[in-house]
Amino acid sequence: MKRIYLSPPHLDGREKALMLEAFESNWITTLGPQVDLFEKEVCGKIRIGHAVALSSGTAALHLSMILLGIQPGDEVLCSDLTFVATANAIRYCGAQPVFVDSDRSTWNMDPALLEEELASCSRAGRLPKAAIVVDLYGQCADHDAILDICAGYQVPVIEDAAEALGASYKGKPAGTFGVMGVLSFNGNKIITTSGGGMLVSDDGSLISKARYLATQAREPAPHYQHVQVGYNYRLSNILAAIGRGQFEKLDRKIEKRRAVNRYYRDVLGGLPGLAFMPEASFGRSNCWLTVILIEPDRFGLDREGLRLALEKENIEARPVWKPMHLQPVNRDARIRGGTVSADLFNRGLCLPSGNQLNDDDLERITGIIKRNCRTPEL
Ligand SMILES: Cc1ncc(COP(=O)(O)O)c(C=O)c1O
Repeated sequence: MKRIYLSPPHLDGREKALMLEAFESNWITTLGPQVDLFEKEVCGKIRIGHAVALSSGTAALHLSMILLGIQPGDEVLCSDLTFVATANAIRYCGAQPVFVDSDRSTWNMDPALLEEELASCSRAGRLPKAAIVVDLYGQCADHDAILDICAGYQVPVIEDAAEALGASYKGKPAGTFGVMGVLSFNGNKIITTSGGGMLVSDDGSLISKARYLATQAREPAPHYQHVQVGYNYRLSNILAAIGRGQFEKLDRKIEKRRAVNRYYRDVLGGLPGLAFMPEASFGRSNCWLTVILIEPDRFGLDREGLRLALEKENIEARPVWKPMHLQPVNRDARIRGGTVSADLFNRGLCLPSGNQLNDDDLERITGIIKRNCRTPEL
């Protein structure tokens, strides 16, 4: 039986042709025309002034922290329910993450808890140096509320839109909120370069500085001159070509992911003890992953039981991110709230959401889920 993966790469456009073009042009390095074009195209699409293509979303997060001057001992607020890369970027600078729990209606950072945390920091006379706000599973956080609250305390916001390329909040594209935005083109994302990322901003001086730091902080001199520690974080020209081929089809990919989400909702929506990650009315998710929540008593099986039932049939499903405050690596970190993210982790399951899914695949997946609903209510 064919294995169905969670979110595999899907290359059905001009990726190969563009890559061969890059290959033949002999720009086999971390800069070149494909990189420049990729940056321009992303800027145009998400309506932002400047972008630098990087080797990963993690590199973009790390550079954003450096550019904000995050130092050892500083505190940085961070969405609790996220992939570990978000918090790791804070650690790379020797700073301390402080986690803020999710709001049940979006699963993203809860603005009320953010306000509580900032008020408490302010009373203690020690404000965080920044906040990293994640757009989870393709859905934007409540950016107006979050930016307002952070502005009240003069805390700059970084938007981690690694999972949300093509999503929007009140009509404005994901990645464009906050001082800088982070995108990821990792293999499992809505578009991929195999590995890659981008840092975007309307502030050109920040992006120039990021480009410089990502190129080993090489000074403009005929010899190799360095006055600062730099990084080798730039995206390869070959990979940018793949990214451009993928990016051309972004809208179609989002339509497909949203159609998959609708299918799951139509077919599984009526099952007792099964709910979906809510789509907030303020935005449009790219539906990168479709996520369900299982209430074991009503569904008749818990999240792990259902995951294993799918795995037995060669279908990959994954638990929702384990919250940062429950990760051993973060045992020393403070958390504001924490019960919502813990509950979403315990009961949440990400279903296969890739672009290749066909009707047979979807029937196979939903058939297994329906069969495993052993509810006492039926
Ligand atoms: C929310 C979030 N932030 C950051 C990253 C890191 O991106 P990358 O894998 O490109 O380093 C990812 C995914 O990989 C992610 O899901």
